[in-house]
Amino acid sequence: MNLFNVYPLFNINPIKAQGSFLWDDKGEKYLDFYGGHAVISIGHNHPHYQNKLKEQLDKISFYSNSVQNELQTELAEKLGTLSGLEDYNLFLCNSGAEANENALKLASFHNGKSKVLYFSGSFHGRTSAVVAVTDNPKIVAPVNYDERFIKSKWNNIEQLEAIFEKQGSEISSVIIEGIQGVGGIMIPTVEFLTKIKELCEKYNTVLILDEVQSGYGRSGYFFAHQEFGIEADIITTAKGMGNGFPIGGVLIHPKFQASNGLLGTTFGGNHLACVAAIAVLDVMKDENLIKNAQEMGAYIENEIKDFPHIKTIRRKGLMIGIELDRDCAEVRSSLLYDHHIFTGNSNDKAVLRILPALTIKKEETDIFINALKKVLENI
Ligand SMILES: Cc1ncc(COP(=O)(O)O)c(C=O)c1O
Repeated sequence: MNLFNVYPLFNINPIKAQGSFLWDDKGEKYLDFYGGHAVISIGHNHPHYQNKLKEQLDKISFYSNSVQNELQTELAEKLGTLSGLEDYNLFLCNSGAEANENALKLASFHNGKSKVLYFSGSFHGRTSAVVAVTDNPKIVAPVNYDERFIKSKWNNIEQLEAIFEKQGSEISSVIIEGIQGVGGIMIPTVEFLTKIKELCEKYNTVLILDEVQSGYGRSGYFFAHQEFGIEADIITTAKGMGNGFPIGGVLIHPKFQASNGLLGTTFGGNHLACVAAIAVLDVMKDENLIKNAQEMGAYIENEIKDFPHIKTIRRKGLMIGIELDRDCAEVRSSLLYDHHIFTGNSNDKAVLRILPALTIKKEETDIFINALKKVLENI
């Protein structure tokens, strides 16, 4: 059997990883400044993470959600404390798309409405309803498309108000990323988010903050929208939550009523996934990683801001978009093949997306900074 060929692949085969580095099958070392699409939060193979998972494997790896699982409770408690959202409730699932599907569904159960407002540049996943609220027609199949999903322009209050005025009574939820990642590190203005919140309250619409990429400390806040003091009704998370172990979460405001069977999953919240997520939170707290994200992000921006060919830098914490005066493909390729550094791109071809682990050290950022300087001076 062959693999279904949907991924354009680099010709690199990593077989070992530690901290911010990877090694391939030829023994070549690479610096990871992308975390495999924003997934690596506490660094590869952190010893606490490894030990917790190994210990759990010797106990029990899985049983279904029909029995008690104290690890889920421990995870919810630790997540509540570190995020400051103690009064929210947690539903565990397996991925970012699944978290967003459940968020849309829960909103609709809650207010009985069926339209969803989303924004230009958005990415919320590739499954049924969430791909339909993702702004990329190439990945929306006819089976997903539905006219109930309404697109509004990013950071545009006028259009938002106009849509609500006409259809507000039918809009079940607004889904918005804390910071758009795939869209090219697009940061919402405080005025925009405040207006969304105001309209949601006025029209009994549920505000869903997709923090799958911008969450878990990456922005220098636990969730990016917390910087603005906005209270979301539902927050979704995945990626950095398990540092590579598949897990997603839906954080649900206490005003939502749970009932047996309302949501569900076979694998979500399994023992291994919970232990991975608990280890991530332990390390984030013990190593003060949110502060490190703030400091290292600011350091990188300051060091690179005057490099040639950089038009703008959009950044919060360690979520960094470097907009060049050209397509970033050549720069990204040179960073990877000439300097052995992984970086990312985005739907905006000019934007290089930088998402290192939150454990990144100053000397590791210097490797990236020096390489970027060389590459930009030679194009
Ligand atoms: C903001 C955002 N939401 C949702 C998703 C989907 O997550 P997953 O690939 O885990 O389904 C992504 C993935 O890139 C994302 O960036």
